Amino acid sequence: MAVAKLDGSPAARLLAWFDRHRRRLPWRAEPGEAADPYRVWLSEIMLQQTTVPTVAERYERFVARFPTVERLADAPLDDVLHAWQGLGYYARARNLHRAAGEIVRRHGGVLPRDEAALRALPGIGDYTVAALRAIAFDQPANVVDGNVERVVARLFAIEAPLPGAKIEIRQRAATLVPSLRAGDYAQALMDLGAMVCTPRSPGCLACPLAELCVARQRGIAVELPRRAIAKAKPKRYAVVYWLERDDGAVLLRRRPENGLLGGMIEIPSGPWRDAAEEPDESAGAAPARVQWRRLEGVVAHGFTHFDIDLVVLKGRVTAARAPEGLWSHPKDFHRLAMPTMTKKVVEHVLGRGWRRAKARDQATRRAVSG
Ligand code: ADE
Repeated sequence: MAVAKLDGSPAARLLAWFDRHRRRLPWRAEPGEAADPYRVWLSEIMLQQTTVPTVAERYERFVARFPTVERLADAPLDDVLHAWQGLGYYARARNLHRAAGEIVRRHGGVLPRDEAALRALPGIGDYTVAALRAIAFDQPANVVDGNVERVVARLFAIEAPLPGAKIEIRQRAATLVPSLRAGDYAQALMDLGAMVCTPRSPGCLACPLAELCVARQRGIAVELPRRAIAKAKPKRYAVVYWLERDDGAVLLRRRPENGLLGGMIEIPSGPWRDAAEEPDESAGAAPARVQWRRLEGVVAHGFTHFDIDLVVLKGRVTAARAPEGLWSHPKDFHRLAMPTMTKKVVEHVLGRGWRRAKARDQATRRAVSG
């Protein structure tokens, strides 16, 4: 590539390295090609809380289904949510759909290049604005994700712990951003963090920045970035009610649109409490007045900010006495947007065979449709 002279700066070294070692990822432009802002935007939203391998597996299928921003904007929200399966929090898919509508209505179907206009779109915060400016439009934005934090903390031997050190890391990172090939540079830093400057065993021998890296000179690369000792996560407790109808269907419900796991499908539960209590179906949370039997053990799940233990009560009703609601047979659960926590409950009740039943059902459908 012509623009970056090999002048020994971190950016020039990184770009030269990137030209030889860049990861080929489905949303990336080929070397020398301009990026497609729509594809970049989709990828950045998917990558917000989902790993590169997971996104890479699902990306092309999503783009094939919604090849343009207009098609995405025109699609029913439920189609978008369905296509989002496996990509994590559905709030991002909702925001993506809303943002597509705004891009079509307000920006003529073209992702805006302007920082303020990007920031005004749903689902786009500081990090994503910077990533889009750099990767979609080659603007010299300072893109700092977790990989970049690690590289920069090591390069400058920033010993203050995260999260306090974020400001210093960001300031240092800003001094490195080149005015040309800013998109390649941002992705080069990400790739270096993912492939070479890894958390536990940094491959300094293969690193284009090794000669400049102060942490390496001091022999502390593997220790950085330091982290403040995390506070213990709070614990929550809840009782889950697995109510089975005599035809085998199970009562489910949709979570409120806003908030944790918004709009996803779960097994009904009582309130999430700060202290464990004996499951008490008379507390009014149980969805039916039936004989509830407590299953052995608990289902433990960790969210980012708290852990939860779920006790499962099981009951049965006849179709005639079944309460109104969302009833579904376990063989159809895989079509629903169920969070991992709920899948763990299903597995607790039905055992691992449940997932095999799902695989069988999918194979049958493929055979029928193929
Ligand atoms: N993480 C976020 N954006 C990315 C990108 N464009 N390439 C690799 N990893 C990423």
